[in-house]
Amino acid sequence: MFKALLLDNTHGFEAALQQVDESRLPAGDVTVSVQYSTLNFKDGLAICNKGPVVRSWPMVAGIDGAGTVLESSHPAWKAGDAFVHNGWGMGETHWGCLAEKARLKGDWLVKLPPAFTPRQAMAIGTAGYTAMLCVLALEDHGVQPGSGEVLVTGATGGVGSVAIALLGKLGYQVVAATGKAAEADYLQALGASAIIDRAELASAGKPLQKERWAAVVDAVGSHTLVNALAQTRYGGVVAACGLAQGMDLPGSVAPFILRGVTLAGIDSVMAPLAKRQRAWDRLARDLDLALLERMIEEVPLDGAITKAQQLMAGQVRGRVVVRVAA
Ligand SMILES: NC(=O)c1ccc[n+]([C@@H]2O[C@H](COP(=O)([O-])OP(=O)(O)OC[C@H]3O[C@@H](n4cnc5c(N)ncnc54)[C@H](OP(=O)(O)O)[C@@H]3O)[C@@H](O)[C@H]2O)c1
Repeated sequence: MFKALLLDNTHGFEAALQQVDESRLPAGDVTVSVQYSTLNFKDGLAICNKGPVVRSWPMVAGIDGAGTVLESSHPAWKAGDAFVHNGWGMGETHWGCLAEKARLKGDWLVKLPPAFTPRQAMAIGTAGYTAMLCVLALEDHGVQPGSGEVLVTGATGGVGSVAIALLGKLGYQVVAATGKAAEADYLQALGASAIIDRAELASAGKPLQKERWAAVVDAVGSHTLVNALAQTRYGGVVAACGLAQGMDLPGSVAPFILRGVTLAGIDSVMAPLAKRQRAWDRLARDLDLALLERMIEEVPLDGAITKAQQLMAGQVRGRVVVRVAA
């Protein structure tokens, strides 16, 4: 038996910590012991039944996990190896890592970078690895530290916090858009050089606005993303990864066809292994671990449901680490 955060909808939606028999673990070629997991926005949606995240029931929650391999028939993995896992439908279509044990596919796993403990890897989690994918997209577009101001939306959230820390360390001039004015000190400590109220971006604006941003990392979507595009300088790039405000895109093509702005879509869930490895290698190089520590709030597995509710209510700053079996 192992402890798991099980989501079920047999008699209406229910999320509960339960003892689960190992015979119920899904198919896979690697069985792991999970030391740490985390709560991303998507975990919050799933655990609070706020969005169509779970597509097969019952489901063990948890899109991320880090720990040790127990058994493997996959050539790349053997018992005792340290792994980190993000996405691939885990916690959506395949039982996830908010559980003491999981059975996964060896092709999905990334070797835990030596730079990180399992706890730090989960402090990064999908949110932080996605922030790195966003920064890589800006770099691939040619943006450099001297290019000008870079806007980060959803700034105090997981993606936003890690993006600011990465960009700040790399020498970019980072402007953080937040709804939490009281967190200005936190954002500045991470590396933001200026802060704006997210309300400035939250409602419908003109299709082209005063050019300000050399680049944008957007975790918010909807009007915020449209206004960010409308304020991006000629030839700039906007990396769009999130929908905290909404999934809609209520804008015009003006920034694309009149300013040559690029909208770079960022997906972490199905990203190929080479891209993941590149992101984790760069996180090992470019993420200041002292700053990462400032972002972390740690809860035990039996505190995950309450914390997920707080995350969905906008009451969490930075990253939540879930201690599963450490
Ligand atoms: N594409 C991918 O593969 C991928 C991967 C990871 C995450 N995501 C998405 O990225 C987004 C952020 O994820 P996360 O883990 O960072 O979530 P999070 O920790 O909950 O942070 C989201 C942040 O967005 C801001 N926000 C919340 N509601 C808002 C609203 N109505 N309008 C404007 N801003 C709002 C808040 O920041 P402030 O209080 O500072 O304003 C909040 O802290 C989510 O939509 C998530 O689904 C996508």
